[in-house]
Amino acid sequence: MKPDDRFDNTKKESKLSADELDMLRTRYEQLDDRSKIPPPTKKQRPKFVKLIKQNKIASVVGAIFILALIACIVLISVYAANFGSLKNKKDYTFFFGKQEIKQKYERIVIDNVLYVDMNRLAVYAELSVSGSSDTMKYIASDGQYIKFTNESEFAVINGAKVVIPAPAFVDTQKCIVPYSVISRAIESGISFETNDEERTVTITRQTYERDDIVYFKDVTFTTADFKVVTAIKDTSSVAYNYGVDVSKYLKYIDPADNSEYLMLVNPSNPLGKEYVPSALSKLPPRFTSIGEDYYLRECAAQALTAMLTDMPNYQVYVTSAYRDYSYQQSIFEQYVKKYTNMGYTREEAEAKVRLTSALPGTSEHQSGLCVDLITTDMTTLDNSFESTHAYKWLSENAYKYGFILRYPKDKTDITSYSYESWHYRFVGRDAAAKIHFSGLCLEEYLELI
Ligand code: DAL
Ligand code: ZN
Repeated sequence: MKPDDRFDNTKKESKLSADELDMLRTRYEQLDDRSKIPPPTKKQRPKFVKLIKQNKIASVVGAIFILALIACIVLISVYAANFGSLKNKKDYTFFFGKQEIKQKYERIVIDNVLYVDMNRLAVYAELSVSGSSDTMKYIASDGQYIKFTNESEFAVINGAKVVIPAPAFVDTQKCIVPYSVISRAIESGISFETNDEERTVTITRQTYERDDIVYFKDVTFTTADFKVVTAIKDTSSVAYNYGVDVSKYLKYIDPADNSEYLMLVNPSNPLGKEYVPSALSKLPPRFTSIGEDYYLRECAAQALTAMLTDMPNYQVYVTSAYRDYSYQQSIFEQYVKKYTNMGYTREEAEAKVRLTSALPGTSEHQSGLCVDLITTDMTTLDNSFESTHAYKWLSENAYKYGFILRYPKDKTDITSYSYESWHYRFVGRDAAAKIHFSGLCLEEYLELI
């Protein structure tokens, strides 16, 4: 149908008026004009689409270029955002005297704390070094020292346990310690200087001159800048008074090197099945239970003889001294049996016995350095010994002969054994006096030396 036919009222009866028909005709003519607008031709499509269709290689190269550009922009923004911290992670240079050592930032700054390689410092400052897998001790020429334990919040300086702000890291290969700790702990002998801008640490030995000769100053340590938790008391002015002449025993009571008498034996430090001490000496029968032979290592045996000779006649005697592995095993089993007979399981019984009797292989008695004492009146091994004159005398005098009360009442959590007022351990006079006057147990003392 042609458009004009739709309004030809001659062909079809219309119900519209002539005016209305005119209006409609005009409206349709306008619509017809609009429908004459031509559709877009190929010529009018964007040029780059055409380009892509024409040259596929060029378009791939272009895409790569655009992606690379975006990646560069991203990288530059990331670098710009981190510029400050990258700058802060600049490596360090340490000068040990003239020796220059570069240290990677990541290796020498841990949790924002600057560390120093203690072994390098020790070589430079001629400190002697001793240690174990997790503890390192650095000793100056006059015996002053500093000791670090792996990841501990404490260090030990000349017998004092001090709080440190960040832990040291110690293993068999290395020992790194916070710079702020070592630079404050060394009182003289070495000077420290840092340049934050240049990232340099300069460690220099101090010198003095005498008769035109330059000497290095001794290194000394101080606790002045630290909080001290516990410390060994100075016993240099202690006067050792005896009731009898002990001069022939002194070399045993106070051995020149007492390190072998400081052996620690406890559940964490077992001796094992095979250990037998060297040179055991038989104790004089007048100090032992009748009909029994008791043995201690020579120094301990002689020191005990001196002590019991000097002690007023309180009727004290030795009821146990060196015990070998199998003897300890039989004692331990006896106690366990007592509990299993009462209905405890083996496990429960062992746990109970272990508070008072050592597992075979972990008893100090196997070291040949300790004794159990009783009196003629108090013949059982229990704390009734505490009420005897002998106990009171030992509490005041045992240190003079190199003996300590090994399992004190207030240290059971450290020693892991119940209080034993009857068990005395030989450590040598110097250590015994320090332990006695400092109120420490052996475990605590050993941690501080
Ligand atoms: N009574 C002590 C702890 C021992 O058996 O060695
Ligand atoms: Zn004992």
